[in-house]
Amino acid sequence: MCGIVGVVSNANVNEKLFNGLSNLEYRGYDSVGMCFVKNSKFTIKKGVGKLEEVHKRVDFLKLNGNIGIGHCRWSTHGGVTEKNAHPHVDCKNKISVVHNGIIENYSELKEELIRKGHKFYSQTDTEVIAHLIEENIMGSNIEEATRAALNKIEGSYALGILYADEPSKLVAARNESPLIVGIGKNENFIASDVPSILSYTNKVIYLDDKEIAVLTKNKLKIFGLDGNEKKKKIHTISWNAEAAKKSGYKHFMLKEIFEQPHAIADTLNERIANNHIVFEKEFSLKEDYLKKIDRIVIVACGTSWHAALVGEFMLEELAKIPTEVEYASEFRYRHPLLDKNTLVIAISQSGETADTIAALKEAKKYGVKTLSICNVMGSSITRISDGVIYTRAGPEIGVASTKAFTTQLAVLYLLTILLSKIRKTLNEKQIKDMIEGIRKIPLQLQSVLDEYDEILKCAELYHHKLNSIYLGRGVNFPIALEGALKLKEVSYIHAEGYPAAEMKHGPIALIDKNMPVVFIAPHDIYTYKKVLGNIEEVKARGGIIIVITTEGDKEITKKAKHIIFIPKTLYTLSSILAVVPLQLLAYHIADKLGHNPDLPKNLAKSVTVE
Ligand code: F6R
Repeated sequence: MCGIVGVVSNANVNEKLFNGLSNLEYRGYDSVGMCFVKNSKFTIKKGVGKLEEVHKRVDFLKLNGNIGIGHCRWSTHGGVTEKNAHPHVDCKNKISVVHNGIIENYSELKEELIRKGHKFYSQTDTEVIAHLIEENIMGSNIEEATRAALNKIEGSYALGILYADEPSKLVAARNESPLIVGIGKNENFIASDVPSILSYTNKVIYLDDKEIAVLTKNKLKIFGLDGNEKKKKIHTISWNAEAAKKSGYKHFMLKEIFEQPHAIADTLNERIANNHIVFEKEFSLKEDYLKKIDRIVIVACGTSWHAALVGEFMLEELAKIPTEVEYASEFRYRHPLLDKNTLVIAISQSGETADTIAALKEAKKYGVKTLSICNVMGSSITRISDGVIYTRAGPEIGVASTKAFTTQLAVLYLLTILLSKIRKTLNEKQIKDMIEGIRKIPLQLQSVLDEYDEILKCAELYHHKLNSIYLGRGVNFPIALEGALKLKEVSYIHAEGYPAAEMKHGPIALIDKNMPVVFIAPHDIYTYKKVLGNIEEVKARGGIIIVITTEGDKEITKKAKHIIFIPKTLYTLSSILAVVPLQLLAYHIADKLGHNPDLPKNLAKSVTVE
C-alpha cells in the first residue's frame, strides 16, 4: 500500500525523508516521489520504480529544504506512470499533496473543479485534493483550506500537505488510513507507520479519523474537521530502531523466521503466573462476561485468517465454545447473527487492514463486545475494539507474515487456557500440561531452526516445479493453507492447501511425478493413522512426498521421500512448530529463483484499502 512520510525541521530533511521512505518500502509500491520547500518554492522529484532506481535517476539526496514530504505509491486510480506518482500539485504549483487511500467521490469533484477552470495533470483521485484546497485557500491559511476541502471529500485518506506560501507548516490529515505524528527535538514528523521514523523518534501520536494535524519544527496542533482543537495522548514506542533492520540477514523474511523463538518467549512473558494466564489491563474483558459468552466469531484476512482457523480448533476443542471464522471482507457485507453473548475477535498483525477494521465496525453495530489480537500498539483495530491482546513479535517488515503468525497462535493458545479455566472445561492438571507445553515452545522452535538441511535440499531439488499441494488435518489443516500461501506469495509457484482427506475428492487428479506434496502430519491420537493412508494414495500416483512429522517417527519415514522432524509437543501446539519449516521452504525457494521475498510483486504489507 502507499506510504507517506513528512518532516519539518531546523535542518535539511532530505536524508530523513529518504530513509523514512526506504523504511516504508516493505509495504509494496510501484513509484516514489518527494517534494521540498525552499524559499517558498517547491522542488519535486518523482518516478516509476523502486526508491533506489528512481534515486539513481533523480538523486533525491541532492534536493534540500527544511521541510518535505515523500510518498511511495501502490496504484489504485490511474496507471503506473511518472505523472501519476505523488506528490500532486494544484494549478499554481503552491499546494503539494501525498495521499494514501481512495477518494470515492473524486469524479464528481473533478468535474466540478474542471468546470471552475482547474487543469488536471494526472489520472489520480489524489490530485482532486490539491485543487480542492486551492479553491479554498483564498484568504485563509493552509489548515483552514484543508479542513474546508476535506469536508467535501468522501473516502479514505492519510495526507501530507505542503503550502509554498506558508513554508514552515506541514499539514497532515487522516480518515480510515493509518497516519501517525512523530515528535522529535526541533523537528516533527508524519508517517504511515512507526518503523519509518523510529530511528529519529519513539514518541508518537496516533491520529484518529477526521483529524488534521499542523506541524512546525517546534509546535504541533491537532484539530477535528469541525475546527475544534483536540488534546491527544503521546505514546512511547518500546520497539527499538535496530529491530526494524536486517541485522546481517539477507532478507527481513529470513530474519523474522529466525526471530520466532524470541518473539514467542516475549509474547508469553509475564502472562503465565503459576497455573494462571494474566493478560494486561488492555484485555479489559471481565471474568463474569467471559463465563457468559456462548459463541465466538473471529474475523481476519490472509495469514491472520489462518491463525483464526487454528484458534477455532483450540477454542472448540478445549474451551468448548462454538467458534466461527469469517473472512473480514465477507463478514462486512452480510448480516451476521450476533447477540450480546457473542464475542467478536479480530486478528491482525498491522491493525490497519481495511477489511478487518470494517468487519469490527460492523460487529460493533450489533452491540457485541470485541477483542483484538494485534501486533502494532495503538493501531486502528486496537483503538476500536473493547479489549486488546498484543502479540509481541516486534516490527514485522517482510511482506509475508511469519513471526506475527506464530505469536498470534501463541496468544490464541493463552486465551484458550484462560477461557478453559474460567469455564472449567479443563481440570488443573490439564491446564498445567498446556502451560508446560507452551513454555517449551521457544526452545523447541530453536531446535527446528537449528536443523533444516532437508528443507534446503527440497528447495534445491524442487524450486523449478510449477505446482505443489499442502495437506494437513485438524489443527494442521490451516498450516497446510499457510504453507501454500507462503509459497505462492514469495516464489510465485502455484500451491494449494487442502484437508488431507479431501484430496481424494478432486485434487488427487493433479498428482503425478512432477507434483511435490507436503504433508503436515505430526503424531496425534486423531488423524495420524488416516494421513498414512493419504500418503499411500499420493505415493501410488508417483507424487513427490515431503512430510513434516514428530521426532522419532518410524512409519512415515518409510513412505516419504523427504522427512522434516519437529519436536514432540501437545497436538494443539504442533501447528506452531510445523509452520516454521514451511516458511523456510517458501523463503529458500524464492531465494533460489532470484525473487526478493521481502517485496513480492503486487503485494502490500498492510492492505489499507478495500
Ligand atoms: C500473508 C500476509 C497477509 C496478511 C493479511 C492480513 O503473508 O501477510 O495475508 O496476513 O493481509 O494482514 P493483517 O494481519 O495485518 O491484518
